[in-house]
Amino acid sequence: MHVTGRRPDGYHLLDSLVVFADIGDRLKVALSPGAPSMTVTGPMAEGVPADGRNLCLRAAYLFGADAAIALEKHLPAEAGIGGGSSDAAAVLRALTALTGRPVPPGTEALGADVPVCLDAHATRMRGIGEVLAKVPALPPLNAVLVNPGVAVPTPEVFRRLATPDNAPMPELPALADPAALALWLGDTRNDLEAPAREVAPVIGEVLSALEAQPGCLLARMSGSGATCFGLYPDTDSAGKAAAALREAQPGWWIHPTILR
Ligand code: C5P
Repeated sequence: MHVTGRRPDGYHLLDSLVVFADIGDRLKVALSPGAPSMTVTGPMAEGVPADGRNLCLRAAYLFGADAAIALEKHLPAEAGIGGGSSDAAAVLRALTALTGRPVPPGTEALGADVPVCLDAHATRMRGIGEVLAKVPALPPLNAVLVNPGVAVPTPEVFRRLATPDNAPMPELPALADPAALALWLGDTRNDLEAPAREVAPVIGEVLSALEAQPGCLLARMSGSGATCFGLYPDTDSAGKAAAALREAQPGWWIHPTILR
């Protein structure tokens, strides 16, 4: 997550590698007469609004379809992993399938990460999130996601960023295996890590805990935080890392996953 500038309207220019996990929220979308409506259930539903603040409902309004949306929340909210944006993108895709109409333009106005989530393919994301270039297939990455249970509001992190003018992401070479990707990632940064750590100092603890697990190739914060990921050479080491972290930190949200 390189931040490379700031537009006159206050939005930041990004240069970021976006990948997709094999875990996520679940959505049911049906066309139903009346205004768009939604329910939120699931293990991470607490505190998630089911009104006009929710990106799912805003997506239905943008699409212009009367939809009944049931969101089962499994990912932590305000966690820097694009959960809200991917939910909104899923609603738009469902409404496209249900109505035969295309997704309308301007989805980045819902959330900067909505356009990239419509395609769900590993992507280099620039602009404020609307300039998308698919990257050649990455090796599947065995990762552990960890969120320490502290919600970190994205606008506050951007506000605390010391300088918006930082170097862009280095070019992405063809990468054969996770170790080569981890090496390349060593030359990249998350420019939002320092400001996010001001908001939630526990992020430093999360990164150290991921790095301390045997085999860890790299640990980084995702997006504007507080979720961090550790990369491991295989499913076995990622699973063991997740189990050890759960034992040490029963209050943290910890999930092994494959990133693509
Ligand atoms: O668009 P999204 O809801 O993801 O972003 C939340 C906030 O984060 C924005 O209102 C803005 O303050 C900040 N942001 C930014 N530049 C971006 C994306 C988000 O400054 N490219």
